[in-house]
Amino acid sequence: MKQLLIRHSSPLCGEICISGSKNAALPILAASLLSTEPVRIANIPNLSDIKILCEILTCLGCTVNTKGGHVLSVDASQVKNLIAPYDLAGKIRASFLIMGPLLARFGKVRMALPGGCPIGSRPVNLHLKGFAALGAEISQGYGYIELRAPRLTGARLYFDFPSVGATENILMAATLADGVSILENAAAEPEIVDLANFLCSMGASISGAGTDTIRVQGVPYLCGTDYTIIPDRIEAGSFMIATAITRGDVTLRGVICDHLKPVTAKIQEAGAKVFTNDESIRVCADSPFHSLDIKTLPFPGFPTDMQAQMMALLSTANGTSIITETIFENRFMHAAELTRMGADIQIEGRTAVIKGTKRLTGSRVCATDLRAGASLALAGLAADGYTTISGIHHLVRGYENFDQKLRTLGADAEFITLS
Ligand code: EPZ
Repeated sequence: MKQLLIRHSSPLCGEICISGSKNAALPILAASLLSTEPVRIANIPNLSDIKILCEILTCLGCTVNTKGGHVLSVDASQVKNLIAPYDLAGKIRASFLIMGPLLARFGKVRMALPGGCPIGSRPVNLHLKGFAALGAEISQGYGYIELRAPRLTGARLYFDFPSVGATENILMAATLADGVSILENAAAEPEIVDLANFLCSMGASISGAGTDTIRVQGVPYLCGTDYTIIPDRIEAGSFMIATAITRGDVTLRGVICDHLKPVTAKIQEAGAKVFTNDESIRVCADSPFHSLDIKTLPFPGFPTDMQAQMMALLSTANGTSIITETIFENRFMHAAELTRMGADIQIEGRTAVIKGTKRLTGSRVCATDLRAGASLALAGLAADGYTTISGIHHLVRGYENFDQKLRTLGADAEFITLS
């Protein structure tokens, strides 16, 4: 069984390049289904989630080619199969993002309910409400959802919650609908903006992406394009915290600093120095950290995908911190594993109370989801002795060359195989 072995680390130092954004690449790959012309996408991270979505696209009839390194081409001109494979669809949450493009282009689609991290029930009601607003007929049964709509019609719709996935799915569907769609209370994450920019590069007519109201003028056709994905703000934030927890001095290259503002603000509040310029960010953490209060919120609030990593840092800070998780109902599973390492964390519903401790100690722990895995690795850097992390199939879903990047910064980290 493969595990990640992390030994106590001296202060991380040096610099690394941040990979392309997983959560931008996935919807953009799904959006390639909207055109009969090939698209070329650069800065695609080499992750298992990306591989699974490419397998799904291939099963639908797409030709997906790796152009070397981090460039993919997708040709969806020959798509005929409109049923995503049940086993593949169930592996990743992003599989559901093919619904909008296939419905808009072909008028029907059938697929299993999506998978994803067990951080909550992960319903899709907001996606379905949006599709119905555009005129789709929805039927469910035998583990599948089926959508039919000979022609989608633009509509005004209000999302009960600014769901990232639902905003992405409806945005993609609306690009080929007849007339204008207004998406209100939409998600405003940078990944939404990147998707909108990709769609506009294909000829879509979209305004307001990155705000809570997005306007889409349907067009009859979308062309091929050549596009480059934004950098991964969550990978960057994770390495900012790796630097902070080891009291290091690290520069991250190839980032968009504006996407990191909520994380930067909190790391500075805890006591680190952060220096930014065009495409890099430097974290210098040479003094003790003090406690913080964190509440996860939709962008531009503090990202839920950084909550677990921040809990690891606050476990080593002076004083008592409070984390409130407002996005997912079950996203504290990493707390029990951090406690095995000596952290003092009490969970009450959606609130975690973290009493900072001087010493964490290495232990055998298990990653329960993608960001929990990152959190345990960061805690392992600060813990005495060594930490082995199982469940690392979660980790490789969202971090490209995670161990190599840590070693580049001076950490003692490697994937090992235990019989
Ligand atoms: C995306 O998931 C990301 N995944 C998640 O990142 C991220 O945590 C999340 O957005 C929030 O930022 C990808 O982009 C592939 P949501 P998504 O729809 O779209 C509820 C990671 O670590 N909801 O914004 O699934 C839902 O239950 C992953 O990289 C409904 O109630 O998130 C949750 O409580 C983890 N009904 C809240 O909204 C719906 O129809 C936010 O979900 C949809 C969502």
